[in-house]
Amino acid sequence: MEADIDRVLISRERLAERVREMAGQIARSYPDLDAGLSLVPILSGSVIFLADLIRHLPMKMKIGLITVSSYSGATTTSKGAKLLQDLNVDVTGRDVLVLDDILDTGNTLRLVTAKLAERKPRSIKTAVLLRKTAKAPDDVVADFVGFDIEDVFVVGYGLDYNDHYRNLPHIAVLKPEIYAAEVRS
Ligand code: XMP
Repeated sequence: MEADIDRVLISRERLAERVREMAGQIARSYPDLDAGLSLVPILSGSVIFLADLIRHLPMKMKIGLITVSSYSGATTTSKGAKLLQDLNVDVTGRDVLVLDDILDTGNTLRLVTAKLAERKPRSIKTAVLLRKTAKAPDDVVADFVGFDIEDVFVVGYGLDYNDHYRNLPHIAVLKPEIYAAEVRS
């Protein structure tokens, strides 16, 4: 697996440090620790981010899961993001924090926040580990961002390519020939 990697973009140490800092920022923005926060990680890419982040968060929380797939060439209002499995908990009247691995075109977060708004939560905020500044649209703004990165396809720390590489402990750029091989096969 490591042989498929072109370079490490963010080391496991920097990830750990930044996720801890993000948890501090998030905790400060929800000062009432007993009010209860509903965390909504977007599956599957945000699972490791979720696991590391929540262990630094001091407030009472519930976790609800939502599954979205991104696909290209779509012409629906969700523009390339499709809801595969809707939220499995009630968030009405609650503070909701959506977690995603990466903000790229914004289609995923736009779809998820619109879906959640229908359920009348008290508030909705978003936290992303990575943001590709090249494409991030003006109408989808994450409240908490781990790292701004260049426009390269990254894997590891939950992010996949064809469902592989999620278990890499760092964020890495794949070798171009891996893409080429996958496209041919
Ligand atoms: P959008 O474009 O909807 O992107 O903001 C968010 C979703 O797209 C996927 N994505 C990536 N996945 N490496 C990945 O493994 C990448 O570089 C990448 N860019 C976008 C991902 O599913 C994310 O939730």
